[in-house]
Amino acid sequence: MTGDLVKQISHGVYVIGVSDGCHQNAFTAAWVMQVSFEPLLLAISINPEHYSYQLLQVGGVCSVNVLGQDQYAIAKHFGQSGKDKMAGFKWQKDITGAPILSESLAYFDCQVSHYADAGDHKIAVCKVVAAAKLNEGQPLLYRQTGNMDGR
Ligand SMILES: Cc1cc2nc3c(=O)[nH]c(=O)nc-3n(C[C@H](O)[C@H](O)[C@H](O)COP(=O)(O)O)c2cc1C
Repeated sequence: MTGDLVKQISHGVYVIGVSDGCHQNAFTAAWVMQVSFEPLLLAISINPEHYSYQLLQVGGVCSVNVLGQDQYAIAKHFGQSGKDKMAGFKWQKDITGAPILSESLAYFDCQVSHYADAGDHKIAVCKVVAAAKLNEGQPLLYRQTGNMDGR
């Protein structure tokens, strides 16, 4: 009932790269926002049932990669679980070692500061330790993904 209404709240669409030091993964997230200027903090709401959450908890690092208007297919790809999801994409690293999607518009390399409970999700509050613009383009918006997330 509220599905259409909550999509009136604007979000971008991001690929979140995670690593536990040995394994890497990436997933699509829309529930990402800046929550502090100094230090620069981002909050990411993540379902604790995701495989990516295990890696995030162990490794304590992630990257937030901004998807562009023409990257709908990438949002869909990383919005599904699966083995070897990362294959076929170019990745790079900055300070934390979290995988960064080279074709994203921009990235934020982050260390997890702390978690907060939020119903069926956990909020990871993350400190940005490095960031850069990678490609030109306009950000993809969550509402433009329709019911890609099944909601
Ligand atoms: C457009 C879109 C937005 C999404 N936003 C979130 C989000 O903000 N938080 C979240 O935990 N999952 C979100 N998901 C769901 C995950 O991307 C999806 O469950 C994914 O399979 C998790 O990957 P993993 O199981 O490999 O960790 C979103 C999916 C889509 C398609």
